[in-house]
Amino acid sequence: MSLCQYSIVFALLFVGAFGHGDEELFLPLKTLQKIQHNHNEPTCSSQKSRSENGAVMLEMKHKDYCFRSRGDLSKRLQKRLLADDIRVLSIQSHIKNVSSKKVEALSQTTTQIPINSGVSMQTLNYIVTATLGGRNMTVIVDTGSDLTWVQCQPCRLCYNQPEPLFNPSISPSFQSVACNSSACQSLESATGNSGLCGTNSQTCSYLVSYGDGSYTKGELGQDHLVLGSSSVDNFVFGCGRNNRGLFGLASGLMGLGRSDLSLISQSSGVFGGVFSYCLPSTEAESSGSLVFGGDTSVFKNSTPISYTNMVPNPQLFSFYFLNLTGMTVGGVAVQDSSFGRSGFLIDSGTVITRLPPSIYKAVKAEFLKQFSAYPSISGYSILDTCFDLSAYEEVNIPTIKIYFEGGAEMEVDVAGVFYFVKSDASQVCLALASLQYEDEIGIIGNFQQRNTRVIYDTKQSQVGFAKETCSFM
Ligand SMILES: *[C@@H]1O[C@H](CO)[C@@H](O)[C@H](O)[C@H]1NC(C)=O
Ligand SMILES: *[C@@H]1O[C@H](CO)[C@@H](O)[C@H](O)[C@H]1NC(C)=O
Ligand SMILES: *[C@@H]1O[C@H](CO)[C@@H](O)[C@H](O)[C@H]1NC(C)=O
Ligand SMILES: *[C@@H]1O[C@H](CO)[C@@H](O)[C@H](O)[C@H]1NC(C)=O
Repeated sequence: MSLCQYSIVFALLFVGAFGHGDEELFLPLKTLQKIQHNHNEPTCSSQKSRSENGAVMLEMKHKDYCFRSRGDLSKRLQKRLLADDIRVLSIQSHIKNVSSKKVEALSQTTTQIPINSGVSMQTLNYIVTATLGGRNMTVIVDTGSDLTWVQCQPCRLCYNQPEPLFNPSISPSFQSVACNSSACQSLESATGNSGLCGTNSQTCSYLVSYGDGSYTKGELGQDHLVLGSSSVDNFVFGCGRNNRGLFGLASGLMGLGRSDLSLISQSSGVFGGVFSYCLPSTEAESSGSLVFGGDTSVFKNSTPISYTNMVPNPQLFSFYFLNLTGMTVGGVAVQDSSFGRSGFLIDSGTVITRLPPSIYKAVKAEFLKQFSAYPSISGYSILDTCFDLSAYEEVNIPTIKIYFEGGAEMEVDVAGVFYFVKSDASQVCLALASLQYEDEIGIIGNFQQRNTRVIYDTKQSQVGFAKETCSFM
């Protein structure tokens, strides 16, 4: 444990300049609460996008940001965490099945759009707004699946969404996708379900089942997709006419996986198969950016980018696998023989990071040792390492770092260490959870990726990390 603690001036926090040493954060608790809970009702302003040095950036907000519903916060959060566990189970079961495919990348444009917390849209996933066939569509960002889809008119079974449904009949650039097309044939590897001829050979029916009971069903279509200042012609997506599940109030989902049908593969001629994001915390006013393209000069990273190679996983090509070789808690290396043994996946759609049981036990033990000054209390949902911090003005939080093959390093931002079950800090939990079995695949969830620039280079098969205080503009 480090003897070195850094004090910070409260005011500095508002400009995002967290004072921190290598091993521990010294943080006024009230500030941490502020990072995680915003007590003002957020308003849903339209998302921003801008172009810089030929790169397009989309503003990214947490999915709950817009359209916040009333109701018991704690209940809703618990539901989301349970949903998170179901996603993890589904990923684990999927891992045994799917086949592989190759992607090739071509050239260089960069564009960015805002990315936002989806909390007010009743999910712990992140959302962006893209323009499809001339309509703004707010969708969940998912690196763990490939097909992009939106709820579509006429709809057989659609959940509520505040934006109008996509209407193919009023988009002059919309085209349906024939069932003998290569796009229709790609469905099998992208979704695990093959495309079927619809009522006639001019349509291709799809089904994506997310394994937790969530699904979308409909036909493939193509239309003009605009991401910030760049566009992708004839973008193939799902026109969902029967959609159910844990999508909150989003109009659909953006698939950023690796197979041929994903947005990244389809746009590789424009963006070269590279994208990155900086995920903001759930604080209402904060946006991050989703950047398409490889121009790193648009980032606002405060540390150099360190890269690690993706680990090929022939069983599940859509996911991004990494070789996690170690972790430190407060500068102390956690000892466990399962580091580096099998791939970990990095996912924008899983909330809480899942560690194999032996690694989790070791991390938890080291964290408890260093955090022993604070009273432990009962667990919450999938989180079993919880504290009552309501009596403290300040807490010393051990820094958690994750290391990958090749020396790449991801420092978990202070906003990603604790999950505040109660906003008065009377139940605050370490935001990490254990997998059930040692041979399951570890997952780095979005909560721990906050305020980090995560770069996915599918051409070089690398993932990069750098610290960045997420902002847009
Ligand atoms: C779509 O969003 C952009 C900003 O992303 C905004 O400028 C534009 O007015 C919106 N269009 C519609 C029809 O809402
Ligand atoms: C995986 O394959 C098994 C056996 O073929 C099947 O029972 C199971 O439903 C499949 N799981 C998924 C998620 O596709
Ligand atoms: C698909 O079928 C149509 C006739 O329905 C035919 O004109 C077209 O060439 C076929 N395309 C492919 C890729 O086989
Ligand atoms: C991960 O990296 C370590 C150290 O380089 C290596 O020994 C191990 O075989 C790698 N594991 C995988 C799954 O690639």
